[in-house]
Amino acid sequence: LYGAIRVEDKVAVITQALCRGCGNCVNACKFGAISVANYTEDQLMAQVREALKEPADKIIVFACNWCSYAGADFAGTSRLQYSHNTRIVKKMCSCRVSANVVKYAFALGAPKVIVSGCHPGDCHYLENNLFTKTRIEKLKDQLESKGINPERLMLEWVSSSEGQRFVEAIRKMEKLEVDEAEIEL
Ligand code: FES
Repeated sequence: LYGAIRVEDKVAVITQALCRGCGNCVNACKFGAISVANYTEDQLMAQVREALKEPADKIIVFACNWCSYAGADFAGTSRLQYSHNTRIVKKMCSCRVSANVVKYAFALGAPKVIVSGCHPGDCHYLENNLFTKTRIEKLKDQLESKGINPERLMLEWVSSSEGQRFVEAIRKMEKLEVDEAEIEL
């Protein structure tokens, strides 16, 4: 998107100065050949593992740095109440959330996962959150085909001024009934 990766003589050449660090290339690469400093797949999975040491009732929220994380912060400073079982994993853009990391969270017993980013048109990396939308829709289909209720995965746009919207997403997820047997899948 930013021209940081180009192909010369069938070899990928990276110009680091052009990279904005959104992480979309990590998920776009079919070969898993790319990683982003400080937001590697291993680092995200380690955060998920830590958040799910006691997975019961946990809601994992993958929040983008610029809007959703700020929205969660705003909810906190506004003293809005939401579930103490919420665990937030921050990344620069929602487009950095890979299917593998979400599946990992479910495999560790997360009952519910929210992927949250800026509203369409507001993504700080052009239109990268539209890639997020496509990936999450595909992932929901995959979950359903495995007998997992796709509603356990929510995509929600939250801006930095929408603390209330962030809280409402958490509350909506809290109300979702999850069959214990489904978590074991
Ligand atoms: Fe928020 Fe891209 S920076 S979704």
